[in-house]
Amino acid sequence: MNPRLIVLLLIVSTLTVLGCDKHAKEQTPETKEEPRVAATDKSIVVYFSRAGEQLHVGYIAEGNTSIVAKMIAQKTGADLFEVKPKADKYNTPYRQLENIAKKEQDAKARPEYVEPAPDLSQYDVIFFGAPVWWNDWPMIMYTFFENNDLQGKKLIPFSTHSGSGLSKFDFKLARYYPYCTVLKGESFLGEDVQKDSNRIVPDLDQWLIGLGFTLRPNENENEAPETADANVAEASSETPVE
Ligand SMILES: Cc1cc2nc3c(=O)[nH]c(=O)nc-3n(C[C@H](O)[C@H](O)[C@H](O)COP(=O)(O)O)c2cc1C
Repeated sequence: MNPRLIVLLLIVSTLTVLGCDKHAKEQTPETKEEPRVAATDKSIVVYFSRAGEQLHVGYIAEGNTSIVAKMIAQKTGADLFEVKPKADKYNTPYRQLENIAKKEQDAKARPEYVEPAPDLSQYDVIFFGAPVWWNDWPMIMYTFFENNDLQGKKLIPFSTHSGSGLSKFDFKLARYYPYCTVLKGESFLGEDVQKDSNRIVPDLDQWLIGLGFTLRPNENENEAPETADANVAEASSETPVE
């Protein structure tokens, strides 16, 4: 065969293959997978919460976020760390606390917490939980964020609230840790948690399973563990700001 013809045929066939490949890529439907945890990941729940006089529920012996944090730890096997303020300035009536928190927010205060904090380098996944205070993380959580370099870790935010939902906890967390993966966050109505924590179990389980956790059975229940293969709805419980 004429060598020129051979070269021409080669060029044409190469262009055809490239063209098909391009076409094939265009045909492939886009799948945007949410990042998830791996079975071997080690997790910890870092949370802030406050007992005392609370909106809608009166005096509470254990904070709403604390209850959720412990449920997450029980279900996932995660360790727990409570961010406790060094100064006892939040132990006040509710309305007074609102003023204190607003002033801290306006001043971008960084209240200190009780050390030692755990060595987070041993963890792959870190849940961060807190009550919504004035549509934001309580300032003490920012103290924690600024004190810890968590490069490369998977972070999972959650809130308890009285109507504001997650209040962009996830976006704000991503701003502090641009080199981390922020996984899907979740929010829980504080009143529900406090009055009967069983009410939040379906949403809590669905969220954790959607993140890739295989849930541990509750010692008080006689159920088979649920797995990450369960059908997971997309909906978030975020609600409009109060
Ligand atoms: C200072 C302060 C500010 C709050 N701001 C909000 C808010 O902006 N939006 C909201 O939904 N709830 C707000 N709440 C209600 C708490 O988020 C809610 O009661 C939460 O469940 C309390 O959690 P804890 O018991 O773990 O502290 C506020 C509560 C306090 C004390």
